[in-house]
Amino acid sequence: MTLSINDLIAAQPTEVCDADLTQPIFEFDGVATYGPGASKDDVIPDPVIRRGQLPVEYQKMTPEELDGRIVAAREKLGEDVVLLGHYYQRDEIVKYADFLGDSYQLANAALTKPKASTIVFCGVHFMAETADILSSDEQAVILPNLAAGCSMADMADEESVDAAWEELLEIYGSEPDENGKQPVVPVTYMNSSAALKAFCGRNGGIVCTSSNASAVLEWAFERGQRVLFFPDQHLGRNTGKAMGIPVEQMPMWNPYKAKGGNDDETLAAAKILLWHGFCSVHKRFTVAQIDKARADYPGCKVIVHPESPMPVVDAADASGSTSGIYAFVEKQEPGTVIAIGTEINMVNRIAAEHPDKTIFCLDPVVCPCSTMYRIHPGYLAWVLDGLVEGEVRNQIVVDEDIARDAKVALERMLAAVPS
Ligand code: 13P
Ligand code: SF4
Repeated sequence: MTLSINDLIAAQPTEVCDADLTQPIFEFDGVATYGPGASKDDVIPDPVIRRGQLPVEYQKMTPEELDGRIVAAREKLGEDVVLLGHYYQRDEIVKYADFLGDSYQLANAALTKPKASTIVFCGVHFMAETADILSSDEQAVILPNLAAGCSMADMADEESVDAAWEELLEIYGSEPDENGKQPVVPVTYMNSSAALKAFCGRNGGIVCTSSNASAVLEWAFERGQRVLFFPDQHLGRNTGKAMGIPVEQMPMWNPYKAKGGNDDETLAAAKILLWHGFCSVHKRFTVAQIDKARADYPGCKVIVHPESPMPVVDAADASGSTSGIYAFVEKQEPGTVIAIGTEINMVNRIAAEHPDKTIFCLDPVVCPCSTMYRIHPGYLAWVLDGLVEGEVRNQIVVDEDIARDAKVALERMLAAVPS
């Protein structure tokens, strides 16, 4: 059965963060709210469907009919197609995934099936781009709905980062110090466009994910005096703080202000310059929610994703990437009450998979990642049927020059943090 947002609300009776989400899925998909999905430098595939233009035949199919189409297409395609799914995907998609994981695990998974001619990526745009960069030239990567972007990734664009970089080189110079350390090392979160990963590749920088950010920052500080971290200020700040860097030495860099809005003294002491990006799902978690969980369930455990604001991470018992949250839940004794600060589809799934524990989302308002939510079985059936007919639909193709430089930064991450 296909769960709509209304089923999620029924499972945890409450309000929803965006009224548009309560619309039937294909109508929601036509809503011109956030969800461009594509990075600026994308090669737009052909054929492509625009938002809300999935062929009507697929929009009208019942969940059972869609399931039949997906299963039949997968049987025909066999091992020629591998399906990767992020933990935030809805259950109706997760059940078809060959690999389910966090963004780091999925980047690695893209490398493990070199014989599959097509990788169908059920996640968001930057993840599919990464799979295209890491997979072989013969492999095609498909994102079933091209409107599945990431609003945080789009908060750092290439022009703004280029301009910030120029300014930083003027402030700090471009020559290494007496220990051979560069003035600034750029570090981009995986949740960024391929163009920004390429920027890092060209400028001695690296990519990180939420599961390896501290190892990557250590790599960066072995090579540089300070770091420019984008787009997620919270992951940067939380990771830096856990490494012992004082908050005053992690100023924000506002691209619309001279010197990022900082004075000379702050810039001289800075260790991490934090871009002003954030995740709209994780910024909703608050210390008051944690206090309430503890008041309602004395002794409960609280774990949050490190994209949450620093006071929330500090107040929680633990923080971790999506796979880290899974591992934390597994380690708890039966009977434990666990409040989780991350995306609702994943929290509901962990709760269902661990009936011996009481698990709930810290946020009482249902707030899924609205772009992950755009991958619906209708789109999956449509792209798989296309493959059966010999047509690659919604292919993600990263420009060759960008892919080459982005791969350098990704490979630095994979080498710095062996799986
Ligand atoms: P993970 O790397 O933990 O899977 O997180 C990706 C993401 O987008 C979280 O919002
Ligand atoms: Fe992007 Fe936030 Fe969705 Fe993750 S949960 S994909 S950071 S919008």
